[in-house]
Amino acid sequence: MNKEQTYNYDVVRQFTIMTVVWGIIGMLVGVFIAAQLAWPALNFDIPWLTFGRLRPLHTNAVVFAFGGSALFATSYYVVQRTCHVRLFADRLAAFTFWGWQVVIVLAAITLPLGYTASKEYAELEWPIDILITIVWVAYAVVFFGTIMRRKIRHIYVANWFFGGFIITIAFLHIVNSIAIPVSLTKSYSAFAGVQDAMIQWWYGHNAVGFFLTAGFLGIMYYFMPKQAGRPIYSYRLSVVHFWALVFTYIWAGPHHLHFTALPDWTQSLGMVFSVILLAPSWGGMINGIMTLSGAWQKLRTDPILKFLVVSISFYGMSTFEGPMMSIKTVNALSHYTDWTIGHVHSGALGWVGMISIGAVYFLIPRLFDREIYSKKLIETHFWVATIGIVLYIAAMWISGVMQGLMWRAVNADGTLTYSFIETVQAMHPYYVVRLLGGILYLSGMLLMAYNIFRTIKGAKTVEAQIPPLAHQGI
Ligand code: HEM
Ligand code: HEM
Repeated sequence: MNKEQTYNYDVVRQFTIMTVVWGIIGMLVGVFIAAQLAWPALNFDIPWLTFGRLRPLHTNAVVFAFGGSALFATSYYVVQRTCHVRLFADRLAAFTFWGWQVVIVLAAITLPLGYTASKEYAELEWPIDILITIVWVAYAVVFFGTIMRRKIRHIYVANWFFGGFIITIAFLHIVNSIAIPVSLTKSYSAFAGVQDAMIQWWYGHNAVGFFLTAGFLGIMYYFMPKQAGRPIYSYRLSVVHFWALVFTYIWAGPHHLHFTALPDWTQSLGMVFSVILLAPSWGGMINGIMTLSGAWQKLRTDPILKFLVVSISFYGMSTFEGPMMSIKTVNALSHYTDWTIGHVHSGALGWVGMISIGAVYFLIPRLFDREIYSKKLIETHFWVATIGIVLYIAAMWISGVMQGLMWRAVNADGTLTYSFIETVQAMHPYYVVRLLGGILYLSGMLLMAYNIFRTIKGAKTVEAQIPPLAHQGI
């Protein structure tokens, strides 16, 4: 069969499998650092096992290795299916896979060794940053090259979200990583002082907005209607959602720098845009959930749909909480506390994690042309993961609000009511509950790995044929 008449599933398969592998590794590190926060002796006085070095390893592994692989896999799958054309440039696509894996392995080596650019979510040193740039440009060429060759005139909305995410991340990464190298493993940011902080959080917030949100909304807009067997609730709303979201997100970064040396008006601007952001976020959330209208009964029997719907619900929750936390008076309480960590993981475990897991379960049978080994295991995975998230975020909310209130409590004579160590002691039980939640979430991932392993063992891979032009479905 002519290769051009088939979809390129090789690279989708590779990224899908690595989503699961990196998910397990990244979350294992998450569980370990959660245990270290409860019992600091687990640092073992070994430099490369300390919390300070493993924390960025966790964030890089879950965000860029797990989340990144899920985004590569789904965007490559969706763009081919919706454009009715094979992925542009097979070898370049293969390069993006291997290049991205090399980046991850280099991160896994250098971060525990203590090499860091000291910018959150952009810790990797300059040679790795250059490699990321090359891989990302190749990704853009493959993705947009496929769009250019499309046989369907219309560009489906999921591709808008993927495209917006690819372009913006390139831009953010390149600007925030501009640095002056002093050796192979050390560089200094080209920006200084408050400008450096501003650029960093322009990057950091939009890493959330475009990497952890826009890209995953691309997943929602394809996989939700497909799994529900219904068209998207409102296509018009999805287009408004896209433009409103990308326009608003880019201004909201200063909410990470409230009450700092950043000019006050900049902080207020960030706050206002963050509050406005509630509208497009909820528009998108409602669009996703309402896609199920008329098919709610499917939720009872379809565990993949459960993953997708719960993920969209967590998207709604975290995008309600975020605007609230960006209000300066609320942030005065929440900033530096575990409340932020609770917010992060309601977005990360609830939204990003659950939608990726749902998409992987959708993809595996199609990529390997097999029924899933056990639907029951998917159902179990769903409940274990959901209980894990609830334990994690409830513990962090209580611990965070308590921590903030204890820090600000003052006696009648103006002295602090609690010493710092008393606040740390008070958090201990909640750290143990968070650890339990993390262990449950990780156990769910292990169930998924087993289920997938049993599904694909011995399966012959298939080359799905591109349907004839007359067929307009995706
Ligand atoms: C088993 C699951 C997980 C566990 C046990 C876990 C645990 C942790 C812990 C203990 C921290 C450090 C908190 C602190 O410094 O006080 C952390 C930070 C973080 N985790 Fe996770 N995590 C998990 C999954 C994930 C996933 C799936 C993502 C993203 C997709 C994620 C993203 C992050 C981010 C972005 C931070 C930094 C938060 C900040 O700086 O405010 N985590 N995690
Ligand atoms: C309307 C949407 C959102 C807004 C306005 C928002 C706002 C905020 C605010 C105000 C903070 C605390 C900043 C601080 O005090 O340091 C924060 C932290 C954070 N949020 Fe959100 N959030 C939103 C959605 C999300 C989603 C969906 C995710 C994840 C998928 C997410 C991930 C994070 C992360 C990782 C941090 C921690 C950053 C750090 O300090 O390392 N946010 N967000």
